[in-house]
Amino acid sequence: MAKQNFKAGQGGRFPLRPFCTAVIILGLVLIGLVFSSLARILQHGVSARDAPTSVEAWLARELRHIAVPSPDRRRANPVAFSTDAVAAGMAHWADHCAICHGNDGKGSTEMGMHMYPRAPNMTQSGTQRLSDGELFAIIKNGVRLTGMPAWGSPSGETDVQTWQLVRFIRHLPGLTPEDLNQMKRMNPASPMELEQQQKENEFLNGGDASDTVPSNPISHSDRKGKP
Ligand code: HEC
Repeated sequence: MAKQNFKAGQGGRFPLRPFCTAVIILGLVLIGLVFSSLARILQHGVSARDAPTSVEAWLARELRHIAVPSPDRRRANPVAFSTDAVAAGMAHWADHCAICHGNDGKGSTEMGMHMYPRAPNMTQSGTQRLSDGELFAIIKNGVRLTGMPAWGSPSGETDVQTWQLVRFIRHLPGLTPEDLNQMKRMNPASPMELEQQQKENEFLNGGDASDTVPSNPISHSDRKGKP
């Protein structure tokens, strides 16, 4: 009788009944998730105010993990550890990433806290246990249906900067108050802040604004599309 549960395959016998049971259970779980998501949408609309449920967050993370091919996940960081590499990653982070993730990587910014899904606390193990290759793939390709954009050029010209960002992400849990002060000076200034600063300089220079220094010392002109 047990033979009915098995089908001969190329390499031997295939356990058909447990396979069918697993497929049915998986199907039921998926149907359940679709219905509970629909019920939530009907109840709350598509507002980003609610935080994703733990099931949604877990499922989205697992799907993202599977979506990064395993050879990419296994890639080692070709940029060797050095204080210069971390400093370069820090400058890019302060300029491009901090608006959502915060200088400290905790995601407690106006934008990061109100996205669906939220910008995660990247100092914690959820991020820190991702491999260098997976972090690189996430930064380079972005994450669909989330606020996380794809950074840098697809051709690979800016890969070194992206690997430097990975070095910096490893440094996030150990950021010092000096690092944070330095990053504040590298955050992009809003037009209002620039205007305010120009007025202050005019006042200090007795009305001469010719040697006004922008608050962000890094030029934006050469960074279009780079991380
Ligand atoms: C517009 C907002 C925004 C900006 C700007 C942004 N991110 Fe993100 N990022 C997100 C959100 C939202 C997520 C969560 C995505 C998810 O849950 O899959 C995320 C996730 C990530 C993750 C995965 C962390 C984890 O544990 O899930 C990494 C790595 C990351 N971002 C790096 C960066 C870097 C580096 C930059 C700058 C070059 C950047 N991000 C800029 C919104 C942003």
